[in-house]
Amino acid sequence: MMKSLPEQLNFLNSAKQPILKREVQEFKRCIVLTGATSGIGYTSALELASLKPHLILVARNPEKASSVAKQCREAGASQVDVVIANLSLMSEVRDCAQNILNLTSKIDVLIHNAGMHSTKRHLTREGLEEVFALNHCASFLLTHLLIEPLRQSDHAHVLMINSEGHRFNGLNLNDLNWKKRIYTGLRSYGASKTAQLLSMIELNKRLEKTSIIVNAMHPGDVKTNIGQNNGLVYRLFSKFFILPNLKDPHTSSDAIATIVTNPTFSRVRNAFYHYTTLEVVAQHARDESKALEVYNKTCELCHIKPLEI
Ligand SMILES: NC(=O)c1ccc[n+]([C@@H]2O[C@H](COP(=O)([O-])OP(=O)(O)OC[C@H]3O[C@@H](n4cnc5c(N)ncnc54)[C@H](OP(=O)(O)O)[C@@H]3O)[C@@H](O)[C@H]2O)c1
Repeated sequence: MMKSLPEQLNFLNSAKQPILKREVQEFKRCIVLTGATSGIGYTSALELASLKPHLILVARNPEKASSVAKQCREAGASQVDVVIANLSLMSEVRDCAQNILNLTSKIDVLIHNAGMHSTKRHLTREGLEEVFALNHCASFLLTHLLIEPLRQSDHAHVLMINSEGHRFNGLNLNDLNWKKRIYTGLRSYGASKTAQLLSMIELNKRLEKTSIIVNAMHPGDVKTNIGQNNGLVYRLFSKFFILPNLKDPHTSSDAIATIVTNPTFSRVRNAFYHYTTLEVVAQHARDESKALEVYNKTCELCHIKPLEI
C-alpha cells in the first residue's frame, strides 16, 4: 500500500495531477488582470482573450502593455483596456482603481497576478517592504477599492496568484519591514504570500452575503522572468539550476482560465488550488485569529476602513 505524504508535502502529489480543462469557448465578461506583460500574466492574457471578454490589463510598462493589448485584440478579446500603475506603491494602486472605475461599472473576474521575489530588502518610498507591498498590499487594496463593481456582477471571482512559497512563512506583523530580523528572499516572499492567504479568509467572511468569492492558487513552477531583478549570482544559479526544471507558463494559464470560467469553481470560496487541484495550505496560513490580525493591520497600512461584516 502507498504511504500517504505528510500534509505539508501534498503539493508534490498535486503537481502530478492533470490540469482540468476549461469548458467554455466564450466568456464575454469583464476581467481585470494585473502583471499581464510577462510570464504567467502574459500567457493568461492571451488565453483569456480568446474567450472574447472585456479585458482590463494592469501593467507598469506602457510599451510592453500596449504590445500585449494588441496581441489580445488579435486573439479575439471584444475590448482591451490598459491601466498603467506601479503596484508596489499604494498611491498608484489607488489611481489604478480610479482608472478602472472610469472604464467599467461591473467586474466579473479580478486576477491578482503581478508579483516579485527579491533577494535584497528594499523599502518603497511609501515605507513598505517592496515584496510585501506588491505581493500582498496591492492585491488587498485593489480588491477593496473595486468592491462596488465586483458587487455588480451576479458572481464575481477574485483570484490571487499565490504560491507554494507561502510555506516559507516569514510573516511577523511586528516586523513587516525586516528591521529586527535577517531578511531573506524566500522568507519575505513567504511572508507576503502568507499574508495574502490569511487576509483572504477574513475577506471571504466579510463577503459571505455577497456574490463575490475570493480564492487563491499556486500556478505551477514555471519558466518566467520572476527573480530576474536580482543580482548576477542569483540569475546564474537560476539559469543553470532552476529554470531547466520548470514547466511552460501555458500550464499556468490553462489552469487560471479553467478556475475563472468553469462553473464548478465559481461555487467555492477560500480555496487554494495547485493548478486546478484543491489543496490544504500550511497551518500558519489558515489560523483564523491571525487572519483577522493581518486583515486589520493591512487596512491600517493601506489607510482603508475594514469592510463591514
Ligand atoms: N513562476 C513561477 O514558478 C511561480 C510560482 C508560484 C507563484 N508565482 C506567482 O505568479 C505571479 C506571476 O509571476 P511570474 O512568474 O509570471 O513572474 P514575471 O514573469 O516576473 O511576471 C510578473 C508580472 O508582474 C509585473 N510586475 C512586477 N512588479 C510590478 C509592479 N511593481 N507593478 C506592476 N506590475 C508589476 C511584471 O511587469 P514587467 O513585465 O514590467 O516586469 C510582470 O508582468 C506572481 O505573483 C508570482 O509570485 C510564480
